[in-house]
Amino acid sequence: SRDNYLKGKRILVTAGGTQEAIDPVRFITNRSSGKQGYAIAQAALDAGADVILVTTPTGLEAPYGCEKVLVKSAEEMQNNLLDRLPDCDALIMCAAVADFRPKQISQQKIKKSSGYHKIDLEPTEDILGEIAGIRSSMPNLKAVFGFAAESQDLIKNASEKLNKKKLDMMIANDISSSDSGFEVDQNRAFFLFPDGNKKEMPLMEKSDLAEKIIAELNRFF
Ligand code: C5P
Repeated sequence: SRDNYLKGKRILVTAGGTQEAIDPVRFITNRSSGKQGYAIAQAALDAGADVILVTTPTGLEAPYGCEKVLVKSAEEMQNNLLDRLPDCDALIMCAAVADFRPKQISQQKIKKSSGYHKIDLEPTEDILGEIAGIRSSMPNLKAVFGFAAESQDLIKNASEKLNKKKLDMMIANDISSSDSGFEVDQNRAFFLFPDGNKKEMPLMEKSDLAEKIIAELNRFF
């Protein structure tokens, strides 16, 4: 039935902001609560899918029935995805992956008494970029959706990322106003497609947006 339209499909959802270690007690991360990703995992379960939720520590309770995989860094998330994706039917990449990480992780806690301390950063792996390059080796993987959180030139920047990362759909998130986006329960977005089409999603609950995102998977199967 329509209610179970993802029955038998394995959907991998990523959520949360990656944590890039500085030393044993500190890390660099970004402003992501994980709420939208967890809501997507729930919506996929509701549509009958088998769901793997690859998430950083968020403090949110994982939806009942999903397989939760806890990761911290971008590198760890990438390794997990590369292992699991060949057996998946779709990827929804909602995680806020850090763009930079400390070049060296200090094995000991950096002491305040050491005074001024400079941390050199290096870029992390572009996980979706890597996946785009090896998609032909994963015939099961029918749909890859990504997110773009932009504070300006939303459509232009998100479209560029859609093309560069060879996505089937980009969810372009408007983070310019305080009622949507990070940490709150509501979101406003555009769905962008490779053929240039777009769909506007007005301000709505993250759970409702999650259902609309999951509904877009229908035509791939
Ligand atoms: O950070 P950015 O706006 O480029 O993220 C766009 C999309 O790419 C998101 O779906 C995010 O999860 C993904 N991403 C990634 N690897 C990165 C940075 C972002 O896969 N290093």
